[in-house]
Amino acid sequence: MCSNVFWGTLIEVLGRERPVGRIAVTDGMADAAVAILEDAGHEVVLAHYTPEELRAGSLAEFDAVVVRSATKMSSEVIQASCSGGRLGFIGRAGVGVDNIDINSATDNRIVVCNTPGASSRSVVELTIGHLIATTRLITRADRSLRSGDWAKKSLRGSELGGKRLGLIGFGRIARGVAELASAFGMEVRTFDPFVSAKQAEDLGCQMHDDVDDLFRNCTHISVHCNLSDETHHLVNADRLAIMPTSAPDGTPCGNHVVNCARGGIVDEIAVLEALEDGTLASAALDVFEVEPAGDNPLLQHERFHGSPHIGAATLEAQTRVGTEMAGLLISFFKGENPESAIN
Ligand code: MLT
Repeated sequence: MCSNVFWGTLIEVLGRERPVGRIAVTDGMADAAVAILEDAGHEVVLAHYTPEELRAGSLAEFDAVVVRSATKMSSEVIQASCSGGRLGFIGRAGVGVDNIDINSATDNRIVVCNTPGASSRSVVELTIGHLIATTRLITRADRSLRSGDWAKKSLRGSELGGKRLGLIGFGRIARGVAELASAFGMEVRTFDPFVSAKQAEDLGCQMHDDVDDLFRNCTHISVHCNLSDETHHLVNADRLAIMPTSAPDGTPCGNHVVNCARGGIVDEIAVLEALEDGTLASAALDVFEVEPAGDNPLLQHERFHGSPHIGAATLEAQTRVGTEMAGLLISFFKGENPESAIN
């Protein structure tokens, strides 16, 4: 167990006692957020640590650490940060906390907070971007144009309007996607065992009780759930095979899968085989089971569109994520229970 006082440390600053601390920021943070913390008297150290350094206890001399997805706060790292150390707060500047061992943090009396809504809009817009890029073949058109071709005839895509979009999960991001997709004229359906059918209906979306029904009814699928044992490889060969390839009005539009949520929810081998044998018209992934995705064979497929986990990579999202995290840290050091504490 960490030796610090659970709700922050009091140190002498300019002759007055103020609740301030030493904060490690290991995967970067918006300048504005660093300035907020420094103005509040905290010491902010921007540094990236290797997994070996983390396991050796590099974070033990900090009161708090702010990570994104690159720093893995495993049980071993948490133990090393606590034995003889004083770490009391892990901030996840973003949504997914799958890189943090929450149980180990709780056992060591470390508060874990994330910024669940701060990057939603950016992920929503990237999802819509991938939906349009795949159905209008924008990436393929760009590649072909650069190679000297004028492939106007072979680059015929399909509209989103009139097609049926299935959202796996109906949280903040999925709802934002539903709103924009509806504005494009898509009919939106969803599957989320944690949300009532009424909540979906209020936003104009039909809820399916069975995820297979979602695949059976939708030509376009977008993933918006967490990665867990239940959702690992939820998008698999059997489900890709039951997707329709024509819109409700009969227009042939092919079938399309987008994942801007978490790697591992989509079975990438199944997607590659489905692209190769024509079961699937296109796939767009922003997140991969193994990141960086350098030698992933999907990257060689013409009808695959990828991006390197950039869902939250906008100026606006990173400013919101950083300033929200700064606020959480300030309340933690004041001894308050920070909003969005997960444990
Ligand atoms: C998140 O969980 O916030 C996103 O995947 C963004 C990220 O990890 O950088």
